[in-house]
Amino acid sequence: MFSPEMFRLHGHSLIDLLADRLSAQLQGQGAVLPWRDPVTEDTRWQRPLPQQPTLDAEHWLQQLQQDILPGGLAIHHVRNMGHQVAAPLPMAALCDLVASLSNQAMAVYEAGPTATMLERQVIRWLSTLVGWDSPRLNGLLTSGGNQANLTALLAARQRALPGNSWQQGVPSQGRLCILASEHSHYSISRAAGIMGLGTAAVVTVACDAEGRMQPAALQQAHAACVAQGQQVMAVVASAACTPTGSIDPLGAIGLYCRAHQLWLHVDGAHGASGLLSARHRMALDGIALADSVVWDGHKLLYMPATVSAVLFRDPANRHAAFAQEASYLFQGDTMDDFNTSTSTLECTKRMMGLKLWTAFSLYGVEGLGALVDQVYGLAQQLAHKLAADPAFELLMAPQTNIVCFRHRGEDSDRHAMNAHQAVLRQRLVQSGAFHITQVTLDGQIWLRTALMNPFTSAEDLDALLAALQQPLQ
Ligand SMILES: Cc1ncc(COP(=O)(O)O)c(C=O)c1O
Repeated sequence: MFSPEMFRLHGHSLIDLLADRLSAQLQGQGAVLPWRDPVTEDTRWQRPLPQQPTLDAEHWLQQLQQDILPGGLAIHHVRNMGHQVAAPLPMAALCDLVASLSNQAMAVYEAGPTATMLERQVIRWLSTLVGWDSPRLNGLLTSGGNQANLTALLAARQRALPGNSWQQGVPSQGRLCILASEHSHYSISRAAGIMGLGTAAVVTVACDAEGRMQPAALQQAHAACVAQGQQVMAVVASAACTPTGSIDPLGAIGLYCRAHQLWLHVDGAHGASGLLSARHRMALDGIALADSVVWDGHKLLYMPATVSAVLFRDPANRHAAFAQEASYLFQGDTMDDFNTSTSTLECTKRMMGLKLWTAFSLYGVEGLGALVDQVYGLAQQLAHKLAADPAFELLMAPQTNIVCFRHRGEDSDRHAMNAHQAVLRQRLVQSGAFHITQVTLDGQIWLRTALMNPFTSAEDLDALLAALQQPLQ
């Protein structure tokens, strides 16, 4: 089970296999998604629990090659344009292998000393990009944007309530509320539910036709909350929002929050990576006015899932979310500053810093920013093609790498138009030729692409539009 020679042998074969798949996907070979009906598929995965071995390592590799890997979504395929999931950098994937075998548990400094330092280094770099040069550490890495948003909002709750809400809970009088864009990610209302505020505590703020939070609507929503005796715990701006990739006006929102002493949380899970690009950075102007920022590595930082950063303008807030006593881990002395589990939901966590540290060290901000430029550019190209083609309707000019559009088809009534988009998407995805998603906005279904792969070409975009125009059978 632990033979170093077996690890070496099968590791080499595995890397060869993965490198071949990577090469094929980047050249657009094979299906993007070999669609299998999940109910039928599930029947194949109900074999009895093995009491004795059922595979040797060679057959394991064979099964990986013939069944497990080909059955998945080909994440590096140039025609994979669906979800906001990175086509990960191969070197970052190697870092995950290092993280797995070295298994630095991270909870406390002594369980992963260098892993802790790598995380601290990466947090400092990301903070610098936001515009915060803090001498004290002001953030943490955690597993995924959902947890990251919860962590930031827990810190905001702790600041909002006098006393210690961690110990005493949330009073029912003078209810707390969160003001968030109507397009904010569901993790915001989920966090409100988890925190015991109830999802109704999230008050939605209207957006303009470009999907951006309207500062005037924020002001109105704030005034309405105050008039009802509610306390605004945080304002959540999206950069960018999930449905359309729109970026809220962070400067105007930030100034409003500063003037009214409101905690501003910027959910930059998707779009904070725009900070890497000299061309697109200005769309995020004002982000430094935030109190907290979330930034996913496994989206536009091209990391394998998962790695998300939570950053605080005031370093004192790094420990605000969790105020836990556990004498078997924390001694309450200066070491706690180096014990990552004092500031994250996780106790044991993966060594997530290595892959980010490696990517910044190997490619620099410029190299990583070029990937962002490339996929934002692809979104512009697709938007131009859609705007020029009478068969399609473009929802809005893309602000990031997400493009929403509809095929006009023959139908004019809303219900039939919606059904047409859904059928088109289903047909396309199940054909394995492309992967795209859909989103419902104001009762209308739009086709949605997240252009994540810098190797996607103009020909791939043309082929997508051609495929969507094939007559339905
Ligand atoms: C704006 C935004 N916030 C948060 C999340 C949640 O991130 P994760 O999937 O890493 O939990 C997403 C995911 O798509 C997102 O788009």
